[in-house]
Amino acid sequence: MAKVFVTRRLPQAGMDMIESAFDVDVWEGDMPPPYETLLERVTGVDGLLCLLTDKIDGQLMDAAGEQLKVISQMAVGVDNVDIAAATERGIPVGNTPGVLTDATADLTWALLTGAARRVVESDKFTRSGEWKTWLPMGLLGADIGGATLGIVGFGRIGQAVARRALGFNMRILYYNQGKSYPELDKELNAKSVDLKTLLAESDYVSLHTPLTDNTYHLISSDELKQMKSSAILINTARGGVVDPTALYHALIDGEIAYAGLDVTEPEPINMDSPLLELDNIIILPHIGSASISARTKMATMSADNLIAGIRGDTLPNCVNPSIYTE
Ligand code: DGY
Repeated sequence: MAKVFVTRRLPQAGMDMIESAFDVDVWEGDMPPPYETLLERVTGVDGLLCLLTDKIDGQLMDAAGEQLKVISQMAVGVDNVDIAAATERGIPVGNTPGVLTDATADLTWALLTGAARRVVESDKFTRSGEWKTWLPMGLLGADIGGATLGIVGFGRIGQAVARRALGFNMRILYYNQGKSYPELDKELNAKSVDLKTLLAESDYVSLHTPLTDNTYHLISSDELKQMKSSAILINTARGGVVDPTALYHALIDGEIAYAGLDVTEPEPINMDSPLLELDNIIILPHIGSASISARTKMATMSADNLIAGIRGDTLPNCVNPSIYTE
């Protein structure tokens, strides 16, 4: 029977699929397995099912051995996996696109509306007993209806965020490395622009780009300075897309008004990060895909990829399909 290592217990629907097909070793800790443990536990496995918190590099692939047939990640983002190393070794890498699009777009809107109307600050205000009366000028926030939303990265999730903006009658600007989508522009009241224009004209800037060498610290001090002083920055993509030191200075110096983060650099955020001292930021613990339905589908989709890889079939969702043709 083929052997697999699963780096954390998954939603049961995914576990059932894997356990009925393979000899399964599961890391039962709540915290990710340390790298040294990963190296030991992958030895001799035919398949690896991993999470975005695991570092999967060439050394680990070699530690597994030549029989390793598939790496299946339960996430759409694969920046923790060395894809070039997997491709060199002919190992297909699977991911879970599509099934978390709506959950992540919903959470983006929770952050956007929560930051605009200072929801978290207002909740703290109530709980701390500061709510003494109705305040004509207290806790004032920003309007959303009719505002301009800038979307950086216009793939599935960016487009789903834009779709939700229709109900708010927003103007959408998007930047996708110069790519435009004329068929969507009319439907979504959207326009492709360069990053500079997007930053300068948007009231809300929402990030939906994968983390790559090109997008690392894409938003740093120069970019934050180009934004409106009333602007709100939302990041539900990857923490590394925003330079946290530059963001801190922009928030205290009033270069931008507010930020809403679901992802940080590093993760989890260091408890001594100065960002945690600010009122004009909401920081969530990477829960974009954390709906019951999205996580269940991510588990079954990653199980499907694992099963296909071990059987020698093409993965239903493969991030390095060139291994099948080259
Ligand atoms: C992903 O799948 O990449 C998400 O970040 C998980 O929430």
